Amino acid sequence: MSVADLLEGRRVCICGGAGGVGKTTTSAAIALGMAARGARVAVVTIDPAQRLANALGLRELDNEPRRVDPDRLGDDFAGELWAMMLDPKRTFDELIDRVAADPQRAAEIKANRVYRELSTAVSGSQEFTAVAKLYDLARDGNFDLLVLDTPPSRNALDFLEAPGRLTSFLEGSAIRTLIRPHGLGLGVRVLGRGASPLLGALRRVTGIDLLGDLSTFFGLLGDMTDDFSARAAAVQQMLRDPTTAFLLVTSAATPAVDEAIWFRRTLQEGGLPFAGAIVNRVHHDRFGDAEPDDVAAELAAELPEALARRVAATFEDYHRLARRDHRNLARLAAEIGDGDDDRVIQVPQLDGDVHDVAGLERVRAFLFASEEERERLIAEIVA
Ligand SMILES: Nc1ncnc2c1ncn2[C@@H]1O[C@H](COP(=O)(O)OP(=O)(O)OP(=O)(O)O)[C@@H](O)[C@H]1O
Ligand SMILES: [Mg+2]
Repeated sequence: MSVADLLEGRRVCICGGAGGVGKTTTSAAIALGMAARGARVAVVTIDPAQRLANALGLRELDNEPRRVDPDRLGDDFAGELWAMMLDPKRTFDELIDRVAADPQRAAEIKANRVYRELSTAVSGSQEFTAVAKLYDLARDGNFDLLVLDTPPSRNALDFLEAPGRLTSFLEGSAIRTLIRPHGLGLGVRVLGRGASPLLGALRRVTGIDLLGDLSTFFGLLGDMTDDFSARAAAVQQMLRDPTTAFLLVTSAATPAVDEAIWFRRTLQEGGLPFAGAIVNRVHHDRFGDAEPDDVAAELAAELPEALARRVAATFEDYHRLARRDHRNLARLAAEIGDGDDDRVIQVPQLDGDVHDVAGLERVRAFLFASEEERERLIAEIVA
């Protein structure tokens, strides 16, 4: 199994996973690998490390994919690699431009205080805009494959839930009935009794007319909420489409693997197309099958005793980590496998950070290797 097998016939690949596991690295390496095979691929990255951004020639405030200079990518590169850094604020503005009735209305919304807070609030808006951007790129149809990196979240599913929360806020039926700008809805009377004096006091003290701003905001949104609902439905459809693939990026630590198993189950229950798992930064025993005690004995002959003991202890830690990773990989494969295909691809812990095209190439090699090639590559690392 290689990533190319997992992505056969797919047009959208979403790399989800907990914080810091290697989502950004993996998405870039997947895009690189699929492009090398001849596809026109765009990767949407989220907050890439500066060095990786530089390596891909990514520029800030440039909310469209740009082609990565082919000179950076080597001669046998058959396709095209495009990359962008998601700018949530810009994406939100673009969305308003698309759905507002006219430019005047769009400008008023973008100047509204509630909108400004909403579009720059980190929690939720990154997830929302990532999916919004993905949808627009998919609809434009300029690429064979879109690869989406996802924001750092506590767990992999936060990413899926956040856009829905924000959309239902924008659809706003609950708040809207409370603050209906014209006419006296029941809600205003309800608010009038309890909350309004409070909001009035807030306005006098802070100068912030929260209720006024909110009601203007929803007034401006007006019938756009129908478009939000329609778009939300279309986005849901795209996420569920059989040409979409969710790849889970995870480490081989026990809680991470537990979460991966749960993530797969939840995706399946939600009718979302789970394609496989990338287990990143897997530890391999660099001492082959040697037992820690043998290593200590061997070292004792060569090194001062205290040092020999320390080296042996470090080795033992690594040995334990490698065994744990090995067990967890097998457990994950047994849980999420599909017949002979275990749908689990491992990438070892590499020396040094992965922050340039050469680093991505190393990750790509593991992702796109056949089972045998991967064994050989791992053996090379261990040697
Ligand atoms: N296989 C690997 N071997 C060694 N280092 C790696 C490997 N994969 C990723 N890294 C390094 O781990 C760090 C985290 O990777 P990355 O930024 O891709 O994670 P992330 O999941 O996108 O994080 P966040 O959730 O914060 O967005 C980076 O410094 C990267 O270079
Ligand atoms: Mg990241």
